[in-house]
Amino acid sequence: MTIDVAISAAQVQPLQVRGKLVVVIDVLRASSVICTGLYHGATEFIPMNKVSKAIRYAHLKHNTFKTESVVVENDTKYHNDWANLLHINKNIQPERTYKKNERRLLAGEQNGFKINDFDLGNSPLEYTAEVVKDKTIVIITTNGTHAIKNSAAAHELIIACFLNIDKVCEYIQEQEHDVVVVCAGTLDQFSLDDALCAGNIIANLVAKDKEIELTDAAFAHKTLYESVENKDLKAVLKEGCQHYTYLENNGFSEDLDYCLRKNSCPVVPKFFRYIIAL
Ligand code: MLT
Repeated sequence: MTIDVAISAAQVQPLQVRGKLVVVIDVLRASSVICTGLYHGATEFIPMNKVSKAIRYAHLKHNTFKTESVVVENDTKYHNDWANLLHINKNIQPERTYKKNERRLLAGEQNGFKINDFDLGNSPLEYTAEVVKDKTIVIITTNGTHAIKNSAAAHELIIACFLNIDKVCEYIQEQEHDVVVVCAGTLDQFSLDDALCAGNIIANLVAKDKEIELTDAAFAHKTLYESVENKDLKAVLKEGCQHYTYLENNGFSEDLDYCLRKNSCPVVPKFFRYIIAL
């Protein structure tokens, strides 16, 4: 197995991810939102890269269209009265269906804040079971959903953050594919929160399998993580992560504490591409 890293959503190239197991990380906060929502029973997240498209899509009723969504695999919550869903991804379970005329929740942020008239913002603490259970959530964020869309050529795509880090490592170990860790970054730049999570994942995998080959980028992320692994993660990010400081200065301190709680949402969200006939 080889492991590579892309440092931001803008850096990902289709050729880099084609045929690979891609692990998309946006610790602050899109990956943490997706893990929390799915852990609390949301049916799926549909990532978008344009606000206008997200709004249209959330209100779509009768139509036949292509879509892509992030779900927890082996989910058995689907019922017969739901319209048929034709799958174009060989991994999808044939029984998976889509609720007819379901009103989807519209979620996302601009500059960290909930977009006007959207149902939810990008704070994982909003994604309680009461709010998201059995809901489809159409989501757009500045970096995270772009990282997912830009990585869609992957053989397989999963979502990672500190909330599900051990589950993700176990999952990767079980696969036989080369891995590309895609950090969402912030505004197309390197972001320390994602880099440390990537380094933590790589360090865990290498500790279990010394044969793993690392690209320069993967080695650098592992080394970076190891240089601070015995320090308080919160203190490190407070000192060196601009997006952490931005969120803290804008009243999202509780989100920051929450997003650093390792293994509190042990799910492995997977990305699928479908054709839906409603
Ligand atoms: C993003 O995807 O850009 C981030 O999740 C931004 C945020 O923290 O809201």
